[in-house]
Amino acid sequence: MPIRKVGVLGCGLMGSGIAQVAAQSGFPTAVLEATPALVEAGMKRITRFLDGGVAKGKVTPADRDATLQRLKAGTDPAALADCDLVVEAITENLGAKRETFARIEPHLKAETILASNTSSLSITEMAAATARPTRFVGLHFFNPVPLMKLVEVVRTVQTAPGVEESVAEFALALGKTPIRTTDRTGFIVNRLLVPYLLDAIRAVEEGVGSIADIDAGMKLGCGHPMGPLTLNDLVGIDTTYSISQIMFDEFKEKRFAAPPLMKRMVMAGFLGRKSGRGFYDYATEPPKPNDFLTGLGEVSR
Ligand code: 3HC
Repeated sequence: MPIRKVGVLGCGLMGSGIAQVAAQSGFPTAVLEATPALVEAGMKRITRFLDGGVAKGKVTPADRDATLQRLKAGTDPAALADCDLVVEAITENLGAKRETFARIEPHLKAETILASNTSSLSITEMAAATARPTRFVGLHFFNPVPLMKLVEVVRTVQTAPGVEESVAEFALALGKTPIRTTDRTGFIVNRLLVPYLLDAIRAVEEGVGSIADIDAGMKLGCGHPMGPLTLNDLVGIDTTYSISQIMFDEFKEKRFAAPPLMKRMVMAGFLGRKSGRGFYDYATEPPKPNDFLTGLGEVSR
């Protein structure tokens, strides 16, 4: 079934990126948020990104305006009535996701495909909570969505033939490269990435090197676009913490266990870029390493 109109549930960090790329690729896109304030914040985030693209010469003002026109954001699930694909990108909480599916499903066409952008929850478990488990897949985007080329397409044992193909074609239409995977916690990328991010935090804890040197090591030594601690801050310390807990719960393997420093950072509200402080302090440009975390920071007298 060709996908012509798209719905996106949630307009936070990931949802706003998904809605933006769908609209930028020519799809009329309905965005659903829980409150008018969240609708406004999400649309502001999209507008800011598009304006940034215009300033960098990557987006024309006409493309920005056409993209914004294709986006209809609100709080009423009736707006999803004619969508062929609805992508869920709300908070990583199974209960909240189930409640959202129950609220929107009565408004959807029988053929509508539901997809979840979850990074670690079970697609099969989510699908089972809906009335369309055969038309349910994972569609996992990467942060920042408009810039990252990859999308993981996740099938379950119940996914009907043709559904995975339709969704992979949609990913191609967004200018992304789809890779296919099965419903195993963490899929392909987070299975490999999460232990790496956690090990970088363990390296800080064990005093292997400074924050800046650990990042420089992987950036310059391995050609990564950013170091693992900068990436932890980009993804969000709380997000990776919650993913690691789900993965540890599933596999019971130490490589997925969150280091104590990470837990303390979450408790302290050092969540990375989004809270202004994580492994780096974003009050200055360029951000300064938060060496206070390692006990190396100076106490002001
Ligand atoms: N609109 C359009 N284009 C833009 C833009 C905007 N607002 N902002 C930047 N760009 C373009 C730039 O012009 C540039 O284009 P060019 O390559 O043609 O010159 C390109 O995007 C890169 O931008 P910058 O030069 O400003 O920044 P960097 O070179 O530092 O790249 C980055 C930024 C793409 C984020 C890069 O650092 C990177 O790839 N980092 C790793 C990110 C990553 O690993 N993400 C995955 C996280 S894991 C995840 O999401 C899974 C989840 O489940 C946890």
